[in-house]
Amino acid sequence: MKRRAKAAAAQQAPQKRVLKTLDRALSKLGFCSRTEAEGWIRSGRVRVNGRPQSDPETWVELGRDRITVDGKPLFEGRKRYLLLYKPKGYLTTWRDPQGRPTVYDLLGKTREWIFPVGRLDLDTSGLLLMTNDSEFAELVSNPEFHVPKTYLVKTSTVLDDAQMSALRHGVELKDGPTRPAEVVRLRDSGGRTFLEITITEGRNRQVRRMIEAVGSQVLKLVRTAIGPVRIGRLEIGKWRELTAAEVGALLHCARRGAKRAAKAASRRREPPQPV
Ligand code: URA
Repeated sequence: MKRRAKAAAAQQAPQKRVLKTLDRALSKLGFCSRTEAEGWIRSGRVRVNGRPQSDPETWVELGRDRITVDGKPLFEGRKRYLLLYKPKGYLTTWRDPQGRPTVYDLLGKTREWIFPVGRLDLDTSGLLLMTNDSEFAELVSNPEFHVPKTYLVKTSTVLDDAQMSALRHGVELKDGPTRPAEVVRLRDSGGRTFLEITITEGRNRQVRRMIEAVGSQVLKLVRTAIGPVRIGRLEIGKWRELTAAEVGALLHCARRGAKRAAKAASRRREPPQPV
């Protein structure tokens, strides 16, 4: 097909519509929990296409409907990609009913709505990405796409080679076995092991649970990298914009994973070949 004819056909092809209920749209994209979203909507803080919307079950089309919270557009304005060095003791959420500090206390005022890409536990410090680009967030955080996440870990005991090997090959957790991980012993000192672990999943409290599964405990956990992006010399509690090269490298890494996942899924669907 000639290039012009192809472009015309693409324009006529039906676009995939992403419809979600308003509360789900807000929570799925990481702005808040579903319960918080319901509260925000019912208290009139959320508008859709300029109109206050008090029903959490309202259907919205992402990428088309203009959603604002407290007057701030969810998806408009320039795309922002921030790297925050989250300190221990900060929650990866918008606001805490118990008044504990959250990562938003470290960001200051932003014109756009920025939300975290995945989460770090209260007691974990390190690299947290924040963005207003929902497609980027989905690509980087979808566990199917295997974007690696690297952590420094201090354990409560010295781990022997068998324990290190178990971490590498996969341990049994209550939500299933873990995928193989890269694990490097950095040093043993004072009755502790310091190690670096790279995992490609991102289940709830995964590193802590893996260390517990081999009979030890995490004393300190710091995320140092997501895919090709490293925390580097950023000071704790500070943030910086990702460079265009870093955004590109992360997207490349996630898209490669997405392609691999799609291929694997299509192989699973293929009928068995006759012999
Ligand atoms: N694994 C954990 O146990 N906690 C985190 O915050 C991240 C990974």
